[in-house]
Amino acid sequence: ITVHLVAANGATSTLEVKTGDSLMQAAVSANVAGIEADCGGLMTCATCHVYVREPFASQLPPPQDDEAGMLEFTAAERRPTSRLSCQITLADELDGLTVDLPDAQH
Ligand code: FES
Repeated sequence: ITVHLVAANGATSTLEVKTGDSLMQAAVSANVAGIEADCGGLMTCATCHVYVREPFASQLPPPQDDEAGMLEFTAAERRPTSRLSCQITLADELDGLTVDLPDAQH
């Protein structure tokens, strides 16, 4: 599937990714600037924060309690569409997924 990550300065990274990986893993593998993912997906860092664009934001399962809790600790402002990219599992129905990257992860 194809996903798009839009940096705060508007630069867009378009990636061909395989399903089953997390969005964070795909972004880190492709060296996308703006996803830090210090904890490697253990949900303890909140430096993999993204803003998911519609219609995908509404399609994702809502955050579990632990993800919702970590979203309180993002460096950039939390918005209704804020998610941790390590908790987004890439699947066929997310083809075209577009996320905005916050201007800071620390
Ligand atoms: Fe640390 Fe997602 S990689 S919370």
